[in-house]
Amino acid sequence: MAASKAQSFLITGANRGLGLEMVKQLVESRASTCRLFAACRDPDAPKSQALQDLAKKYPKVITVIQLDTTDPRSMKEAAMKVGAKLEGGGLNVLVNNAGVLPRGDLLHTSEQEFQMSMDTNLMGPVRVTKEFLPYLLQASKASTQPGMSWSKAAVINISALLASIKLVPETYIAHPAISYRISKTALNMFNQCAAFEFTKDGILFAAIHPGWVRTDMGGPNGEIDVVESVQGLLKVMGSLTEKENGAFLDYHGKPLPW
Ligand SMILES: NC(=O)c1ccc[n+]([C@@H]2O[C@H](COP(=O)([O-])OP(=O)(O)OC[C@H]3O[C@@H](n4cnc5c(N)ncnc54)[C@H](OP(=O)(O)O)[C@@H]3O)[C@@H](O)[C@H]2O)c1
Repeated sequence: MAASKAQSFLITGANRGLGLEMVKQLVESRASTCRLFAACRDPDAPKSQALQDLAKKYPKVITVIQLDTTDPRSMKEAAMKVGAKLEGGGLNVLVNNAGVLPRGDLLHTSEQEFQMSMDTNLMGPVRVTKEFLPYLLQASKASTQPGMSWSKAAVINISALLASIKLVPETYIAHPAISYRISKTALNMFNQCAAFEFTKDGILFAAIHPGWVRTDMGGPNGEIDVVESVQGLLKVMGSLTEKENGAFLDYHGKPLPW
């Protein structure tokens, strides 16, 4: 019997925070059965040292890829490099994790911050998904598994509770972040639309809130640490089926209000 193919992942913003922890937990739990493309915008900077150290420890599993999600040229180069390494096998899981968080309300958010939020949190995932779509399609076509799952082909959009329009009255005063909210709500719409568009191709889409996590973005008052968040995220990602296609869930798998 032929050896089963390694499951391949591309994770954006993999040099720190949730992205780095995702690479860490995946490589530590399934080094022999996965292939990880850890993308970050500045692989040679000190802020990427922890990722580089991890990649050195697992050179057969982790490939560090330069990818700035706001720069179409860097994206094309990244897709070419990843495509060459995949050797026709396709990409099973794309995690659109890279994000930025300007915190102000309407009066304290500049036009530039609105643009940065939209460019990174919405257009970043849109661009990366479009660029890597041929590899996701390849993986889906190559799979003999029925239904939808991350073993076949999946795009995970790391969303946020603050994207919920319904929850604004409960959350706005404590966490205004108006440009961030708008960009993540738009990301949820992208997620839902793409889920419909690519159902026929067997590519699953899900938007997942990682919890309020103690990272640079979440700050020291976050409710959980990266380990707990990523354990939950990976469990949810691994359990997704066609029933959850397009869903907006938290890191326990609980559906969140739009
Ligand atoms: N932490 C929370 O409580 C929380 C809650 C809800 C949702 N989230 C979401 O979870 C995701 C990860 O957040 P985090 O807490 O891990 O944040 P973080 O610690 O601030 O890390 C953000 C990551 O995104 C990368 N990034 C930003 N802009 C990028 C770009 N243009 N191209 C490529 N990479 C870029 C950063 O790279 P550099 O190092 O180069 O800046 C970094 O790797 C984000 O989408 C965030 O919105 C987080």
